[in-house]
Amino acid sequence: MEGEEPPLKIAIIGFGNFGKFIAKGLQRQGHVVLATSRSDYTTYCREHRIQFSRSMDAICEEKPDVWLICSSILSTENVVRSIPFHKLKPNTIFADVLSVKQFPRNLFLDVLPPEFGIVCTHPMFGPESGKDGWAGLPFVFEPVRIAHGSLQARNCQRFLSIFEHEGCRMVQMSCEEHDRHAAGSQFITHTIGRILSQLKLESTPINTKGYETLLKLTENTVSDSFDLYYGLFVYNVNAKEQIENLERAFDSVKQKLFGRLHELLIKQMVERVPLAVDGSSERRRMEDSKVSAPYFLPRAEAMMDLSSLRRAR
Ligand SMILES: NC(=O)c1ccc[n+]([C@@H]2O[C@H](COP(=O)([O-])OP(=O)(O)OC[C@H]3O[C@@H](n4cnc5c(N)ncnc54)[C@H](OP(=O)(O)O)[C@@H]3O)[C@@H](O)[C@H]2O)c1
Repeated sequence: MEGEEPPLKIAIIGFGNFGKFIAKGLQRQGHVVLATSRSDYTTYCREHRIQFSRSMDAICEEKPDVWLICSSILSTENVVRSIPFHKLKPNTIFADVLSVKQFPRNLFLDVLPPEFGIVCTHPMFGPESGKDGWAGLPFVFEPVRIAHGSLQARNCQRFLSIFEHEGCRMVQMSCEEHDRHAAGSQFITHTIGRILSQLKLESTPINTKGYETLLKLTENTVSDSFDLYYGLFVYNVNAKEQIENLERAFDSVKQKLFGRLHELLIKQMVERVPLAVDGSSERRRMEDSKVSAPYFLPRAEAMMDLSSLRRAR
């Protein structure tokens, strides 16, 4: 039956980094891709068999079955409001790929004519993580408003099956639940990547596996636009709480480190607790008290001895 049906006509709005990337999957599954965007992608589209026009009207004339919003989170409201809905056919489906979900769902429900279908999606991968194929990568979706038993329902099913056939792990989830999970996972990941990028980390001759992971995370995070990251922060109601959680967690780790160091120095300076240079008495003390992570400070005299040695050289 699938083979007898004509391919879906899918119009992508926002043909940037992600729009171009997702177009490849839609084409691999045999569908017709049209595109419109703020910038001019005529040459790229000509080379990739995609009909491109910066004029929204020209794309509307083609009566696409599905409109797929791939614009930045920040620009989406203006972009969607500028579509001449009256030029579209009544069974049209609107889908989006925004990395936040409650915002586009509410926007669609607010501005789209009631006869248009709505399916909100978030492919949890991008040009970097999905460059070798989409198999096993999570695809979150929520059919928000689809007329049952209609052509719209059939087209929605065919649209979702594109990702299924690409091997994605299909996860049906409400937009609220998505935003809760994404703030605690994706937003934290992006934030840590952005923080690390401030440190200007460099590869060393003795990289551990963990450090390699951090370098990769930093590289991946900063390859996404800052608009995308800012959108995750502003348009996910759970993101601010996560920033505060991160700050508290960092403070608590710092407090643990400096608290223990402070305790030890006070013991040494005020109570004059002897700390053996070879650590044997301290080690015994810790074995007795079952302290798991040993730490040894050299005695002040021993440090002086070492410095006089260095001077003598
Ligand atoms: N990158 C990823 O890994 C990934 C993964 C899943 C979902 N997404 C989602 O995909 C969407 C696109 O992401 P992206 O990575 O391509 O980068 P982005 O910076 O979030 O969005 C770039 C796109 O937004 C358009 N745009 C930006 N400002 C605009 C404005 N003022 N008016 C009209 N259009 C404007 C750009 O159009 P022009 O190119 O024509 O200037 C381009 O198509 C986002 O909603 C993002 O959340 C991204």
